[in-house]
Amino acid sequence: MNKHGKVVLTYGTYDLIHIGHIKLLKRAKELGDYLIVAVSTDEFNAIKGKQSYISYEDRKYILESIKYVDLVIPENCWEQKIEDVLKYNVDVVVMGSDWENNPNFEALREYCDVTYLSRTEGISTTKIKTDLGAKKLIKK
Ligand code: CTP
Repeated sequence: MNKHGKVVLTYGTYDLIHIGHIKLLKRAKELGDYLIVAVSTDEFNAIKGKQSYISYEDRKYILESIKYVDLVIPENCWEQKIEDVLKYNVDVVVMGSDWENNPNFEALREYCDVTYLSRTEGISTTKIKTDLGAKKLIKK
């Protein structure tokens, strides 16, 4: 046990924070004492072919303001996960069920627990972007 108690780590982009994000963070925090969120940087999103609406700095600031979150670190590449787990003495890595059986997370089982939580139905950043984008097409 390290000084923070049981350490939980989760990864994500967290663009346009919504209820699914908050519920995931709440349940992740309940699995331990200290929650670390590794947030995809704008550069890493570009590698993944994604572009967030909110900049990395602002997504970090917003996440740091959420009461379940204790620390925000950058996610710069796919390969950093084992390093993160060892550096922060992580006990459990938590992801939404969309990541279930993903080899990048399954590989961490050698170093810590890996848990997947069910996603909140009916909401995603992609849906928000699509729905708000579609509104522009509605004539007054
Ligand atoms: N998440 C969730 N429920 C949702 C949406 C996201 O539990 N309805 C979780 C994801 O499983 C992940 C974390 O929130 O563990 C961050 O997800 P992220 O990919 O940033 O959010 P999405 O809304 O899924 O974004 P996108 O539509 O761009 O994939």
